[in-house]
Amino acid sequence: AHDHPAQVPSGVGLTGLREAAAGCRACELWEPATQTVFGEGPETARIVFVGEQPGDQEDRAGEPFVGPAGKLLDRALTDAGIDRRDAYVTNAVKHFRFTPTPKRRIHQSPGAEHIRACKPWLEAEFSVLQPEIVVCLGAVAAKALISPSFRITKERGQLLPWTPPGRQLTMPTEPDADGDEPEEEVPAQTWMLATAHPSAVLRTPDDARAAAYDALVADLSVVATALA
Ligand code: URA
Repeated sequence: AHDHPAQVPSGVGLTGLREAAAGCRACELWEPATQTVFGEGPETARIVFVGEQPGDQEDRAGEPFVGPAGKLLDRALTDAGIDRRDAYVTNAVKHFRFTPTPKRRIHQSPGAEHIRACKPWLEAEFSVLQPEIVVCLGAVAAKALISPSFRITKERGQLLPWTPPGRQLTMPTEPDADGDEPEEEVPAQTWMLATAHPSAVLRTPDDARAAAYDALVADLSVVATALA
């Protein structure tokens, strides 16, 4: 038997989604991985960060962005004036993909099929959170959420109008209690911003790393200003 589509329950909140995702078999990555690494953060978060996939440490801890990339992200958020505790942090793919070697597990980028298989979970997270701003950390997240032709080098740091899939438009059809005509409820504009992946900053050669870090902080500062 092969993989079946993600079984995403509705109306269960983030906790229920997390529990359901723990048993996801929508692609083959679940088997060698330690566990599903679901998103983390308050249901009231106005901002959602989307990374690529958990790394070695995230796979062991069961939490997103707790390894070296997460440490760098934490520092950049602080420098940009964003409190990580107010944000929801997740990944486009929720299992660690790696090649085992005797000494260590070597990270492998997720394939298009893994991103596709995992997308119902990301959409369900958006649907519960109804974020105002989604920040794509790196090209994998940006291509998954915007379009495969998205060029992070060209479009990073820009707030782009964007509507998360699963965003509910509520349009009551009955007059309200006062007999007034119902007003159409229009959701506030939502935004997307793409920036570099923290791991890309870590991989930048010594002589250019400080500038790469500063560019990440500058992009995150755009987000901080928009939220203020
Ligand atoms: N890199 C990611 O994209 N996500 C994590 O959670 C950790 C590292």
